[in-house]
Amino acid sequence: MSDTDGAAENRGQWSSRWGFILAAAGGAVGLGNIWKFPYITGENGGGYFVLIYLLFILLIGLPIMVAEVLVGRSTQKSPVGAFKSLSSPGSLWAVPGWLGVLTGFIILSYYSVVAGWALHYTWFSMTQGFAGMNADEIGNAFSTLFADGDANIRWHLIFMVLTIGVILGGIQKGVERAARILMPILLVMLLVLLGLAITSDGFGQALEFVFKPDFSKVTAAGVLEALGHSFFTLSLGMGAMITYGSYLKKKEDLVAASGMITILDTVIALVACLVLFPITFTFGLEPQAGPGLVFINLPIAFSQLAGGVFWSTLFFALLVLAALTSAISLLEVVVSTFIDEFKMSRLKATLLCGGTITLFGLPSALSGSPESYFGSGFKEHSAFLFEGETGKNWFDTFDHLASNWFLPIGGLLIALFVAWRVGDKAREEAFTTGSRFARWYGLWLQLLRYVVPVGVIAVILYKIGLI
Ligand code: PHE
Repeated sequence: MSDTDGAAENRGQWSSRWGFILAAAGGAVGLGNIWKFPYITGENGGGYFVLIYLLFILLIGLPIMVAEVLVGRSTQKSPVGAFKSLSSPGSLWAVPGWLGVLTGFIILSYYSVVAGWALHYTWFSMTQGFAGMNADEIGNAFSTLFADGDANIRWHLIFMVLTIGVILGGIQKGVERAARILMPILLVMLLVLLGLAITSDGFGQALEFVFKPDFSKVTAAGVLEALGHSFFTLSLGMGAMITYGSYLKKKEDLVAASGMITILDTVIALVACLVLFPITFTFGLEPQAGPGLVFINLPIAFSQLAGGVFWSTLFFALLVLAALTSAISLLEVVVSTFIDEFKMSRLKATLLCGGTITLFGLPSALSGSPESYFGSGFKEHSAFLFEGETGKNWFDTFDHLASNWFLPIGGLLIALFVAWRVGDKAREEAFTTGSRFARWYGLWLQLLRYVVPVGVIAVILYKIGLI
């Protein structure tokens, strides 16, 4: 904390560029990469979905990543304060900041439920293991967990307590230390599993499924999902990267750091697919298994593997760690906004926000529980967003709303703000200071000015059915 660069009291700073990259990549890599990306790739038919997703990452995600880190680093504030300080007082530009806080609040509330499943699976792997269970039994074990309201609530609470605990440690002590230790472990674990997958019979088929586009499978819902997921997986569109950037020292190369975070996140998502689909095909399972994909197909493989108890414990522990570093970044956005905007202490802000999010997540924890099915009212109110897929409960409704609508809209507003509202001189200076990639400024600005808005708006119009 020697070089405070004017960061407000009460806040902290990363001790080095790698501290920032690891923490931000730890925030970006999470359930989105390992649980969600493989299952939505499976549901959307593989290759074309992956291709479109990669294009969105490169042309839309990366430019917005740079924009968010830039806004955070130049203002040294969390989203709401950052938008305010770059626009005029009372300006409507604080709205995207607050939208981001709301989105972070919503995402964490159900994210914690899925992380809870991973906790349950880690516990189950350690204490019982899947050996001796057949495919049906393993499938039923997931359905049983999903429908067990008590278990879901218990794990959700445990996970939220863990998250709140790290945030209470403060930015540098808590988040950075966690990310420093967890990120490299996560990478190594995934590579070991990839090594196993490569030698399996289904690897060739999996490669084809993931990388060979079949454009007859393109749907508007799939394209929107790919767009939403490119934001979700990179933690964009809700100010997480603004908040992380706000703890970055002014002399750091933000373009290089943004590129590094994007590459790490994308590689891990692709590796997760290349771990999961070979197993799926080797055992003759379905790629369209839905949210249970990771929780059913992998244990089936583990049940047949020598040392399965070890591998499954390792894998689900990895998933919990990845989820924890993401959950930390979600809560940090909400908490740091409360600290900055309402001059609250970290303790008070964390307990207040963490507690409210935990409560808001309870109906999600009960979404699969037949006796206490909270979500039915949402079906009618949100029908227009889903076109025929209205069987969604509280969990699905908020996942769909936050990742496919709020994040792209938030990202669009951030892009418009940085590209058109922030002054030319300040923007160029912020981009080029300390950067080895200063000459890419023009290209980045064009992407942010035209490609991002046209892309996001086109996808939304396509989904609504207007083009
Ligand atoms: N990127 C995280 C993941 O892939 C989720 C996340 C979204 C975290 C938005 C922070 C903000 O799991």
